[in-house]
Amino acid sequence: MMMMMMKRNYAVRLSIGLNICVLLYVCAHFGSSGPWSEDGATNWDNNVVQAPLVQDNQNNNIIPFSSNASERIVDVQTNKETIIIEKDDKEKIDVITSGFDGVIKDVESTKINLQTESVPGGQESPPLVESSISLQDAIGCKDKNLDSRVSQRGDYWVLYNYVPMTVSVKCWETITYTTHADFTFLDNLEPLLERWRAPVSIAMYTPGTDIQPTIEAIKYLRNCASPLVAQLVTFHLFFSSKHVPKSIPSREKILSDSYNCSAVAPWLNSLYTTKMYKNEKKLLYPVNVGRNIARETAVTHYVLASDIELYPSPDLPSRFLEMIRQRDQPELLKPNPKVFVLPIFEVDEKSKPPKNKTLLLKMLKNGTAIPFHKKVCSGCHSVPKSKEWMEEKEVAGLHVYHVGKRTGVFIHWEPIFIGTNLDPMYDERLSWEGKSDKMTQGYALCVLDYDFLILDNAFLVHRPGIKIYKKDSRRDALAAKTNVLIKKIIVPELRVIYGTRKGCVV
Ligand SMILES: *[C@@H]1O[C@H](CO)[C@@H](O)[C@H](O)[C@H]1NC(C)=O
Ligand SMILES: *[C@@H]1O[C@H](CO)[C@@H](O)[C@H](O)[C@H]1NC(C)=O
Ligand SMILES: *[C@@H]1O[C@H](CO)[C@@H](O)[C@H](O)[C@H]1NC(C)=O
Ligand SMILES: *[C@@H]1O[C@H](CO)[C@@H](O)[C@H](O)[C@H]1NC(C)=O
Repeated sequence: MMMMMMKRNYAVRLSIGLNICVLLYVCAHFGSSGPWSEDGATNWDNNVVQAPLVQDNQNNNIIPFSSNASERIVDVQTNKETIIIEKDDKEKIDVITSGFDGVIKDVESTKINLQTESVPGGQESPPLVESSISLQDAIGCKDKNLDSRVSQRGDYWVLYNYVPMTVSVKCWETITYTTHADFTFLDNLEPLLERWRAPVSIAMYTPGTDIQPTIEAIKYLRNCASPLVAQLVTFHLFFSSKHVPKSIPSREKILSDSYNCSAVAPWLNSLYTTKMYKNEKKLLYPVNVGRNIARETAVTHYVLASDIELYPSPDLPSRFLEMIRQRDQPELLKPNPKVFVLPIFEVDEKSKPPKNKTLLLKMLKNGTAIPFHKKVCSGCHSVPKSKEWMEEKEVAGLHVYHVGKRTGVFIHWEPIFIGTNLDPMYDERLSWEGKSDKMTQGYALCVLDYDFLILDNAFLVHRPGIKIYKKDSRRDALAAKTNVLIKKIIVPELRVIYGTRKGCVV
């Protein structure tokens, strides 16, 4: 156990021993001091697990995105530290806290205190992770900013980065979960963040008066929910030019307004939910416009383009990046373009989404969990070698389990995966109601000969509640129309743009 303070650059290095050995390297940058001070770094060892760190520019605090052991916040001005630990983790509490004299909190009572003074000057901050084999070099990407801007996209107006997250991240440092929603889905954001603990980019569909509850929901989440929302979530707004809201509050107002947290959450307020503009006007949900907005604006190289009701297994960003950094599997070195597929599961209403594969396998055995959409459309989401995957025990770390292709029985596969912004986009003419909304992307991935690398210890779980098939004649009619649109118009275009390959269909 040791803790060292270093000179004027306020670097703190501390290492916590035993076999969960978490090394955090924390450095805040003031004045003219250089970025790194390596003196005294004597306690590396092979078991060191590094948690990517992020600096909150406005608040001068640090959080690791995902760490195996705990979460720490360091106030770099006073060097006062807070550790947040899961209540049930008695063993780890002892390991982590021996010799530690800061504040210790458990996850349940977590309200991270971010009310410290702001950084003087506001200079560029240096990278906060010093890897032995550089992840930065392994990824090699360009940093992006979160400047807000207004732009048109086909028939839609888009307010990009309308409310940006407060942390600043390097493009190689973590992964962004990118998604889309209307305000009624925002109850998923906290449980999602609890597991993901890394940036989220979300495009909100706000036609007409739906903008009001959406703004209320953003304010509610930033003021009354987990502090992770303000730190990690970037909200974008979009609406059709035929359904422009009467007014749009300035983002400054949203950031400064306080909120009465004893009021009911906007997505539970029947005043809002029973009179949704989108429903009253029978608008289709432009799912792929939202998907593309959220994905393109992600500031990280790797993105997980997902649906907000799908919660990832915890620790995924750090485990994934560690796999990328090590690059010690032949599948990772092949020249083909690649995406990293996450198998998807559902759990029943009474169960919590499992925290790791070991628990997931137990739940699959006793029937409290099942593969996603098993009861709706088992072909659409089944993953190559899924039976074997479900028989394989959890091992440490993250690896490629199997390399699949979108051919044969998986010819109509719509996988959810970690990829990058170089992957084909989603066709913005397709709506959620019309179905098949990810099929055209799947076709392009197939023609471009993508490898679908299925990960061994990572997965997605749908919010609790098992879906059963319900007939919806409006959707069926729209789906039939969509199929015609895809066949007659979109497929011929895709053939021109991406070409063809034997075994690939939409
Ligand atoms: C906050 O909301 C609660 C519940 O709606 C209400 O009773 C209370 O008066 C409100 N407080 C303020 C300061 O508006
Ligand atoms: C999975 O989670 C359970 C419950 O938190 C825990 O007891 C178990 O050790 C975990 N398994 C692994 C392999 O980490
Ligand atoms: C199923 O297994 C999980 C994980 O072991 C357990 O938490 C749950 O209580 C079990 N449920 C039933 C109905 O057996
Ligand atoms: C988490 O800690 C366990 C030991 O407690 C270790 O086996 C595992 O590899 C660690 N996971 C990550 C992602 O670092």
